[in-house]
Amino acid sequence: MTTETTSAGTTAEQNPPADVAAMNQLVRIGDYVTPIALRVVVELRVPDALAGGPRTADDLAAEVGAHGPSLYRVLRALTASGVLHEDRGHRFALTPVSDLLREAHPYSMRGMYRLSPADLHAMAELEHGVRHEESAFEHVHGMSFWEYTATHPEHHERYQHNMWSMATLEIPAVLRVYDWSATRTLVDLGGGTGQMIAGILKEHPGMRGVLLDLPDVAPHSRSLLEREGVLDRCEIVSGDFFHSVPAGGDTYLLKRVFYDFTDDECTRILRSVRSAMHPDARVLVLDGVVRSDNRHDSGKLHDLYVLAMGQGRCRSKAELSAVFAGAGLRLTRVIPTGAFPLVEGRAA
Ligand SMILES: C[S@@+](CC[C@H](N)C(=O)[O-])C[C@H]1O[C@@H](n2cnc3c(N)ncnc32)[C@H](O)[C@@H]1O
Repeated sequence: MTTETTSAGTTAEQNPPADVAAMNQLVRIGDYVTPIALRVVVELRVPDALAGGPRTADDLAAEVGAHGPSLYRVLRALTASGVLHEDRGHRFALTPVSDLLREAHPYSMRGMYRLSPADLHAMAELEHGVRHEESAFEHVHGMSFWEYTATHPEHHERYQHNMWSMATLEIPAVLRVYDWSATRTLVDLGGGTGQMIAGILKEHPGMRGVLLDLPDVAPHSRSLLEREGVLDRCEIVSGDFFHSVPAGGDTYLLKRVFYDFTDDECTRILRSVRSAMHPDARVLVLDGVVRSDNRHDSGKLHDLYVLAMGQGRCRSKAELSAVFAGAGLRLTRVIPTGAFPLVEGRAA
C-alpha cells in the first residue's frame, strides 16, 4: 500500500479518501446475516402470521413458537432491506417482498427461501470445494447430496418444496414463451413429481405426456397428475435416462436436470434422447445459462450453489452447444423466460 502526505500533514492512509458508494456496496454484498434472517422468518411462517395485518414481535412469537425479544431483533433487521415494515408502535407488516413468502400466495416463493441447514453447512465449506475436486457437500456430510436427500426426510421435504415453488413460477413463463402447438407428445425427463408436465397438459387438452423419473420418485407424481385432471393423458415411467428414454415424443423436456451433471453425463443423456426421438423432434433444456457479460446473472450464482452441492455446473451457450453437438444435436435457440431460459435443440 502506498502512503501520500496531504497538505494538512496527515497521510492518506490515516485519512483515506473514502469511496463511500463502494464501501456501502461492499457492506451490502458481504452481508450474510440478511439471507439467513430471511430464511428464519420463512421457517417460522412469520409472513403467514402477518397475512391479517400488522402485529408486534411478542404477539407473533406466541403464535409461531419463538422468543419474543429475539424475534423482534430478527424482524427489525429485515426492515431496511424492504422485507418487512415496522411502525412506531413496533408492529411489523408485510411488504410486497414478504407477501411472496406466504404459503397461500398464488405465486408463493416460500419454498425457495427455506432454511436448509445441510446446504448452508456445505456453503460454509465452499472454500474446500474451490480448492479441491471434492464437493463441499460431500466434504461436510460424508455423502453425496442425493444420498443425503434420500436418507434425511426433513431435507427431502425442503428440497421438494423448493422445486414446487420454482415450478409455480416457471409453468406460466414456459407456457408463455414457447409455441407448444406442434407438440402432440411431450416427454418430461427427470420430471420429478409432475408439476411442469401437469401444467402444460392442462393448458393443451390435445397433448399427451410421458413423465420419466427414477423408480423412487416417478410413482409419487400419480396423485398430482390425478389432482390436476391429466393422469389419463400422462404415462408415468420409472427409469434411468442414462439407459433409455421413451420413444415417440415430439418434444423432450429436461427442466433443472443438466445443472446437476457433468458435461459428459449431459451428453450421455442427450444421446439417449437422440436415439429415441423422431428426426424432427425438439429437445428443450431449462437450465441456468451463464451470461458472457458482467450483469446480474442468476446462472452464475446458481453455478456456485451447484459447485458446493455436487459435480454439476451451469453452462454458457457455447458450452451447451458443445454438449448438444456431442449427441448429434444442434442448439437452435435460447429463449428467455424471465428466469432460467429454455434452450432448444434439434437433430444436427
Ligand atoms: C433438480 S430435479 C428437477 C425436477 C423437475 N424437472 C423440476 O424442475 O422440478 C432433477 C430430477 O432428475 C431426476 N433424476 C436424476 N437422475 C435421474 C436419472 N438417471 N434418470 C431419471 N431421472 C433422474 C431426479 O430424481 C429429480 O427428480
